[in-house]
Amino acid sequence: MSGFIQNAWYVAAWAHEVPADGLFARTVIGEPLLLYRTASDEVVALEDRCCHRQAPLSRGRKEGDCVRCGYHGLKFDRHGICVEVPGMEAVPPKACVRSFPVVVHNKWIFVWMGDSTKADPALLPDTFSNDHPEWRYLPGYLHYETPYELIADNLLDFSHLSYVHAATLGGSEQIAQIRPKVERIERGIHVQRWVPNVPPPAYYQPLWDYGGLVDRWIEYEFILPATLLMHSGASPAGAARDDNRTGIRFHSCQALTPESAHSTHYFFQESHHATQGDAGTTQGLYEGLLAAFEEDRQMITAQWRSMSLKPDVPMLPLHMDAALTLFRRLVMQVLVEESNCKDSA
Ligand code: FES
Ligand SMILES: [Fe+2]
Repeated sequence: MSGFIQNAWYVAAWAHEVPADGLFARTVIGEPLLLYRTASDEVVALEDRCCHRQAPLSRGRKEGDCVRCGYHGLKFDRHGICVEVPGMEAVPPKACVRSFPVVVHNKWIFVWMGDSTKADPALLPDTFSNDHPEWRYLPGYLHYETPYELIADNLLDFSHLSYVHAATLGGSEQIAQIRPKVERIERGIHVQRWVPNVPPPAYYQPLWDYGGLVDRWIEYEFILPATLLMHSGASPAGAARDDNRTGIRFHSCQALTPESAHSTHYFFQESHHATQGDAGTTQGLYEGLLAAFEEDRQMITAQWRSMSLKPDVPMLPLHMDAALTLFRRLVMQVLVEESNCKDSA
């Protein structure tokens, strides 16, 4: 697979990562971005590459709502237009850097990387639990030295909970025995897995130290460009789902943003309902989640090393690959559509 979908909202940062004063750099789908805030707290995203000699603007300084390149001093406004060249009376008309549409939505900073006339806020994912009084979480970020596709594959097949996360999120081989219900939805895939009568995983303990068997449910959308929106939870075996008095429930938002063809930003949180637990619970769950996601990172990094040694070795398709195969097909379809649009423009 080559290339990235352009016309999509990519998560570039958690809102708290971009300071009120100062400059923040992050590369998204191979494009170096400079993010900063204006005096009125709007987030600006510019190409982090000066049009003069290509120095990163993030090595310069903020001046009001503008940024000055730290190399030879060209100054750019928030739209990327050069407004000053030291020693020149007039600014050459070509002196500008690209600016990108930005939306701060539920604590995530989204950047539209493609045709800016197509940047539609209606396409933003429903990340409600990132900013909701009824849900509590701590924000997470991991950097992967692997292609994002392998992490998407992992998130689209939770049979790995039984093996990669046996001591954290899994706790039962039964999870891998169950076939999830997989459906195509608009711009993504819907996955549902119902796992009755299993021991609760260690991950639940800070919130729910339950000794009996439980019924677990996991239900999520994985939508373009690579965002997971998941409801999950558990109840004592045989009890009703979604009952806060007898069981637990979570909502999770996770986004993969390719940095390059071989590296990825991973933004995540898993919220618990605010009526259950306290700040210590939130911290305990976060630590458990981080430990589990580190298990994923180690496995996927090792997988990528193995693949890189012999790139031509084929994969063996199995039933558990249904969701990830559908998602890869969808990505390919959109890449072809974008490339056809470019050719006919
Ligand atoms: S590289 Fe930016 S001013 Fe020269
Ligand atoms: Fe995992």
